[in-house]
Amino acid sequence: MLREECSDIKAFDSALRMLADAMMETLREADGVGLAGPQVGVPEKIFVTLVPNDEPRVFINPEIIETSIETGPYEEGCLSIPGMYHEVIRPRRIRIQAFDADGKAFTLDADGLLARAIQHENDHLHGKLYIDYLPEGEREKLLRLYEKKSKARRNRKRKV
Ligand code: NI
Repeated sequence: MLREECSDIKAFDSALRMLADAMMETLREADGVGLAGPQVGVPEKIFVTLVPNDEPRVFINPEIIETSIETGPYEEGCLSIPGMYHEVIRPRRIRIQAFDADGKAFTLDADGLLARAIQHENDHLHGKLYIDYLPEGEREKLLRLYEKKSKARRNRKRKV
C-alpha cells in the first residue's frame, strides 16, 4: 500500500473526522512529526502533522502548488521504516492547498521542519518514500541494514 497512488477523499463526514483524530493520536504516541493515510492502512489523500511549536494540522486532498528554488538537507526518518534515517535534499519552503477535516479549503506557506514534514507526508499519498531520493547504492545499503535490524528485532521477540 505504501507504493500506491492514494485516492481523493470525497466525503467530509464524522468518519473522516474520527480518522483524522485517530491518526493524530497515533502520531502523538509514536512521537513523530507526520503521518499519512497509507501508513495506517488507509490509501486515501490524508495526512497529519505535529511539528514542535506548531499546531496539530490535518491535510486532506492536498496539493503542493509552489516550492522554493532554494533547497536544503535534513536527516529524515519514516514511521514505516523505523530506526532508519538519511539526509534528503528538498525545497526549503512550500505553499500547499488542502482541506481540513471539516471540508474547509486553506492555503498554507511553510518553511523549516513543517515544510519538510509536509513534503515527506505528501509523497506518501503518491506512493513515494524518502529513500527514493537516495542514490541507488545508499538506498540499498539502508535497506540491507534495515532488513538486518528487523530480523534481529523479530528474533528478540521470539525469545520472550
Ligand atoms: Ni514517512
